Amino acid sequence: MQLVDPFNRPIEYVRLSVTDRCDLRCGYCMPKGFHDFEEPEDWLTFDEIERVMAAFGRLGVTRIRLTGGEPLVRKDLPRLAARLSALPGIEDLSLSTNATRLAKHAKALESAGISRINVSLDSLRANRFRDITQGKLEKVLNGLMAARDAGFHPIKINMVVMADVNDDEVEDMVNFCIEHDFTLRFIETMPMGETGLSASQHYVDLQTVRKRLEQRFELVPGVMPGGGPARYVRVAGTELRIGFITPISQHFCETCNRVRLSVDGTLYLCLGQNDKVELRPLLRGGASDSELEDTLRHAITLKPERHEFRDKPEQVVRFMSMTGG
Ligand code: GTP
Ligand code: 5AD
Ligand code: SF4
Repeated sequence: MQLVDPFNRPIEYVRLSVTDRCDLRCGYCMPKGFHDFEEPEDWLTFDEIERVMAAFGRLGVTRIRLTGGEPLVRKDLPRLAARLSALPGIEDLSLSTNATRLAKHAKALESAGISRINVSLDSLRANRFRDITQGKLEKVLNGLMAARDAGFHPIKINMVVMADVNDDEVEDMVNFCIEHDFTLRFIETMPMGETGLSASQHYVDLQTVRKRLEQRFELVPGVMPGGGPARYVRVAGTELRIGFITPISQHFCETCNRVRLSVDGTLYLCLGQNDKVELRPLLRGGASDSELEDTLRHAITLKPERHEFRDKPEQVVRFMSMTGG
């Protein structure tokens, strides 16, 4: 039994946002001063999350990625992770985090069955890092090293490349990732709501970054395990893989395999569109497992073909912090 959307794409991956809160304020994700958060009584409980994910598992979903906001802000996240990794059918449980709290939780996450960690890191310069995120670089670096010590490998670093903000650091980031044995991914900024940092104003086409890197490094074809949209190369003479995530210059919607569940139980069918189905009323209204599965099957029939970030950049979909990318 496999979910297949109207464009013949098998859906086998759920990005699960466990909170819409975050301890950082990256300008492209959640605007400064934002306080329109979901109410705690509307957050799905661990029991409710497990129930939805078990239903997805029965419908052929094999991958879950925990996102936020910042997922480690949700109390007892490792306990939820252990429950999800034990679900029948779930083969790959991963986490996208800003790493500020990773030093504390890395070991517990590893024991709970998280197999892969991706970490956001847009700058290696403390002052600049603070300007971008309002947070402390040192905490993130400590988190990264703790994750490596806990045995996570590979660890992927996500760098959103922004003109006049951090685009002069791509080479430094390559060297940092070679030195510490991390995988590196460059990401194009997507216009997600009216954030403090304008995506169009700071947009960098990653094809230009790739050309720039080719002048300094020899890039050869590379592959990486993962369920996401990055296209990889390897830096010759090193183990470093670099992934390019290019939603704007070269979108990857034809191979889309995923949907998103927000903390209040809304199932979003596409990152760049408003199509959604509310699951919370069902979960709290006594629906049976088979009604829940029918609703998930129906939801997948509503999945749009692609985003329109390029043609309609002004269209407000939602803040990135609501579904964690
Ligand atoms: P892997 O399984 O390791 O490949 O993870 P991933 O790259 O899918 O996940 P991650 O959370 O690290 O996301 C990296 C970037 O890819 C973020 O900027 C996401 O917003 C973006 N991304 C992930 N999935 C999609 C998608 O379906 N559509 C678009 N447009 N961007 C996506
Ligand atoms: N455009 C592109 N990537 C974004 N992320 C957050 N907001 C945006 C945006 N507007 C990235 C974060 C994180 C990943 C899950 O999504 O940097 O690493
Ligand atoms: Fe899938 Fe929408 Fe992302 Fe395209 S933008 S890859 S259709 S979720």
